[in-house]
Amino acid sequence: MRMIKTALSVSVVSIGVLVACAQRPIATGQTTPVNTAAMQKEVNESLKAQMRESFIDSLMKQMTLEEKIGQLNLPSIGFDVTGPLLSQDVEGKIRKGIVGGVFNTYTPIAVRKLQEIAVNETRLKIPLIFGYDVIHGHRTIFPIPLGLSATWNLNTIEQTARAAALEASADGLCWTFSPMVDIARDPRWGRVSEGAGEDTYLGSRIAEAMVRGYQGKDYSSATSIMACIKHFALYGAAEAGRDYNTVDMSMQRMYNEYLPPYKAGIDAGVGSVMSSFNEINGIPATGNHWLMNDLLRKDWGFKGFVVTDYTAINEMMEHRTGNAAQVAQQAIHAPVEMDMVGELFITHLPQLVKDGKVPMSEIDNACRLILRAKWDLGLFENPYRFVDEARNKVEMMSADKLELAKQAAIESFVLLKNKNNVLPLSKDKKIAFIGPLIKDQRNLIGNWSGAGDWTKAESIWMAATKAGWAKESQYARGCNMLEDEELIKRLNEHDGRIERDAKSPQQLIDEAVALAKQSDVLVVALGETFGMSGEAASRSDIGLPSNQMDLLKALKATGKPIVLVLMNGRPLTLSWEDQNVDAILETWFAGTKAGAAIMDVLSGVANPSGKLTMTFPRNVGQIPIYYNAKHTGRPMSLTNKYSSKYLDVPNSPLYVFGHGLSYSTFNYSPIQLSAKTLSGSQRIKASVTVANTSSRDGYETVQFYVHDKIRSLTPPDKELKHFEKVFLRAGESKTISFEINRETLSFWNYDLKWVAEPGEFEIFVGPDSNTTNSSVITLQ
Ligand code: NOJ
Repeated sequence: MRMIKTALSVSVVSIGVLVACAQRPIATGQTTPVNTAAMQKEVNESLKAQMRESFIDSLMKQMTLEEKIGQLNLPSIGFDVTGPLLSQDVEGKIRKGIVGGVFNTYTPIAVRKLQEIAVNETRLKIPLIFGYDVIHGHRTIFPIPLGLSATWNLNTIEQTARAAALEASADGLCWTFSPMVDIARDPRWGRVSEGAGEDTYLGSRIAEAMVRGYQGKDYSSATSIMACIKHFALYGAAEAGRDYNTVDMSMQRMYNEYLPPYKAGIDAGVGSVMSSFNEINGIPATGNHWLMNDLLRKDWGFKGFVVTDYTAINEMMEHRTGNAAQVAQQAIHAPVEMDMVGELFITHLPQLVKDGKVPMSEIDNACRLILRAKWDLGLFENPYRFVDEARNKVEMMSADKLELAKQAAIESFVLLKNKNNVLPLSKDKKIAFIGPLIKDQRNLIGNWSGAGDWTKAESIWMAATKAGWAKESQYARGCNMLEDEELIKRLNEHDGRIERDAKSPQQLIDEAVALAKQSDVLVVALGETFGMSGEAASRSDIGLPSNQMDLLKALKATGKPIVLVLMNGRPLTLSWEDQNVDAILETWFAGTKAGAAIMDVLSGVANPSGKLTMTFPRNVGQIPIYYNAKHTGRPMSLTNKYSSKYLDVPNSPLYVFGHGLSYSTFNYSPIQLSAKTLSGSQRIKASVTVANTSSRDGYETVQFYVHDKIRSLTPPDKELKHFEKVFLRAGESKTISFEINRETLSFWNYDLKWVAEPGEFEIFVGPDSNTTNSSVITLQ
């Protein structure tokens, strides 16, 4: 105990020496000018790293095998349970020195209590790391990640992560299990709500933005938290969209389409990675040596640690790769360093080491990575760094964060349809507000909003009445969220909070129809409950619940214009709605300021600018469906029976990737190219002039796609390579350019080499992935 005390005090003294050194001139007698500041920084960095390593060396010398393994143990203490096990006697285990960190606990009081046990009551006084699922905001809740991705605004996305870090770091936390960067093309999978959609390029940029937002420049600041790229890897490719299901994928698809967002997060400096539950080509990710060692550490150079998902090591037994001891051995060998909740490391690794089945070096490496993270987070210097009551009082739900929540929500909304410009609404019209989501607050903050307080979320109704757009006589509930007893029971077992009105479904519909008849336009808010998407919430039917459809059909029969406001965590099948309602505004689960944001868009105070980041299918039979699909040898043809198509539905989706309307209208010029051929390190500038042809200011997201016309590995139809969200005043035009180089045209070939093959490439620029505005360049 005394020795660690010494080690700690040495470290603090040494930091002082280091700083003093850094302030002394370090280059003397130089004849050429030197960048002294940069050199000092480099020297500092390397001295700091040396100091960290010698601190960890001396600490590890004092640690027993059990204590080292203890650092790899991550129990949950608190309330959020996302698996079959619940951690037991966490405080007792902390006292024994066999806990490295905990999750599901926050607030200065709760965190201080546990940290005090670690720092005052254990032999070596090693501080704990505190993690949590801060997914789309901590106390101030922003739109769900799928909604945030629809903003196509990297700055907004980064700011939401920064705001979440400011709140979380003042609430005892120093680590978030976010961002989820799994590419997903199957909307039956409930967790599409937690990701950035189907596209590799956009997903990669969003991964970087979120890591930057959470971690800041590096996570040494007390207002930053360590991020965690998850779920490594390919969790979004579960067969049939069923959560946790098998993933079997070619290496070529993996490298070109699914892996880049993880890599982007790692290149952005993420401190940790979470292993996924699924197997990959026959080997569970959590015990997959190729994935964790060869790819992640050797090829990609990841220096941080890997935490498993909740009991993922134990679940390898269900995957049938071994018994408890064997799966622990597989996991540490992969290696993954932190065992979330499952406790197979603390139970089996000591004996496995004693039996010579697990080399001591594997334990030492893992322990070192965890201790490094703690050092980098500043926890050895001050274990209570993130326990800051004063900051806690000012950060939570501060006015600037609420304003950001509203802006982010507005930007995330996608106007799918707007027939005859029924939107924005006019105050002269009599508006009926109908639907179970008009007055709802709980669903607005979506799932994975653990520390969010739904009672503080602003409903559509609150905003509409506040802004003078509605009074009680203009409201009818119309239907319940669900009538399916079995589903309600299942959702409510997990705090689904689905309550049914005492009135019968028919009575509710009758009231709504009566109100509709006296109104000029109907705003109807329908969708999923928050528990119908997210983890373990796959659906085989992704339409609106049938009782909600009954309401919509009855309202349609009144002949009144219908504005459908949707809340949901995934693409839905909306074929009937598309044909029968006048406007559809997709608002996802938009967070704390959902209501105000929705009313701003409906009333025209704000102009919608979101664009879809996942394709909306016409029906479930089309899934998986995504814009960058490959051609087949028998392309779709209505006149050729033997072509790749369905007999009963077109191949095209209902709403394509990148689709989203605005109250403004935009016109695109043909593409201008600075040259037609590209060789060596040359670049070609592709430009378009985009004009706002309306009388309203608005944002447009200009999308650049590339199609390789002939390739050794069959190419996708189009791939997003660049985008820019531009603000155009009414009548204004701007020229948007993108520089294409060899890199833009490269891909992982069959042998997994990163190459660009000479030939023709078609460049597309337009408002969505359907654009036909194209031009051809040649790579020599
Ligand atoms: C399981 C989820 O898959 C993961 O995303 C989450 O971070 C952990 N549970 C911890 O809550």
